[in-house]
Amino acid sequence: MKGTIAVLPGDGIGPEIMSSALRVLDAVNKRYKHEITTKTALVAGPAYDKYGIHLPEESIDICSKADAILFGAVGGPVDDQENPKWKDAEKNVILDLRKKFDLFANLRPLRVFAGAENFSPLKPELVAGMNVLIIRELVSGIYFGPRKRYKENDEEIAEETSRYKWSEIERIVRVAFAAATNRKKKLTVVDKANVLETSRLWREVVRSLEKEYKDVKVDFMFVDNAAQQLVRSPAIFDVIVTDNLFGDILSDLGGAVVGSLGLLPSASLNGKKFGLYEPVHGSAPDIAGKGIANPAAQILSLAMLLRHTFELGKEADVIEKAIRDVLASGDRTRDLGGKLSTEEFTSCVIDKLTS
Ligand code: IPM
Ligand code: MG
Repeated sequence: MKGTIAVLPGDGIGPEIMSSALRVLDAVNKRYKHEITTKTALVAGPAYDKYGIHLPEESIDICSKADAILFGAVGGPVDDQENPKWKDAEKNVILDLRKKFDLFANLRPLRVFAGAENFSPLKPELVAGMNVLIIRELVSGIYFGPRKRYKENDEEIAEETSRYKWSEIERIVRVAFAAATNRKKKLTVVDKANVLETSRLWREVVRSLEKEYKDVKVDFMFVDNAAQQLVRSPAIFDVIVTDNLFGDILSDLGGAVVGSLGLLPSASLNGKKFGLYEPVHGSAPDIAGKGIANPAAQILSLAMLLRHTFELGKEADVIEKAIRDVLASGDRTRDLGGKLSTEEFTSCVIDKLTS
């Protein structure tokens, strides 16, 4: 397989965990005789230093020419958010890339690996074997609808609109049906159809597609109830599909249920195999440069990239298994109670890959 990945390390621990993922990519290239090359582009802090903006044309161009984007993390220290170098960096980079490349399908797998049950704040028996896939619509809804600020009778008013077209719902719902077909064949549509018109349209779309995916069992759940169920009994879910805002909130909740943010990857896909792959966690400026960050989520994001963009399912499985085995053997970074550095953990993963 030949291909190119645009590599956007970003800020904080981004560059360190990215270098781990690139070592893993090297190992995969060698073992399976692929020629997947990379090209690095600046975003957020480093881009601001050089160009005065967070997402320069040069970087967009590198992404356009690549088969996929492997993204690290962006954002500055919490107490420096008003500094123009950091202000809105995450929003500028991430929302723009999503829109520009029409990355409408956000896949956030929530898995509790064997032996990692204790990282969850919930009782271990509740999360044992948890394997939920949240699919979030990512380029429409309230995030991208019209918004305005105005005054009425001397009072400030702010407004935004959640808008969904049938076709925008249909394409994300199809991704969800297809995913459920390959998993446990259960799809939960999360909405607020007791109140919102967009949710009612989502339901109509789902109903109209249901007959094409006969072996998938569909149920509908209001978002407030879904939040409860994710905490009370996460095992009832297989695939969840939902809109942009609900998906944002539920995926953080789901991440907290799993308990180890350092293990959660994500993919944002455009339906034509192009995608942006990134860890769910942020740039963790407080531990940046210390060589102690957990690179697992970045490496698992690379696995998703190989699976979804290059259709290298076997290679992706092998990486995921290597991470699982290393964790199960007790070799861990500090966030998971271990002692390994970023580099040492990466070497363990590569040893498993090549053995
Ligand atoms: C996420 C983040 C983003 C979002 C922010 C940084 C704009 O929270 O990817 O979940 O809200 O989508
Ligand atoms: Mg979020």
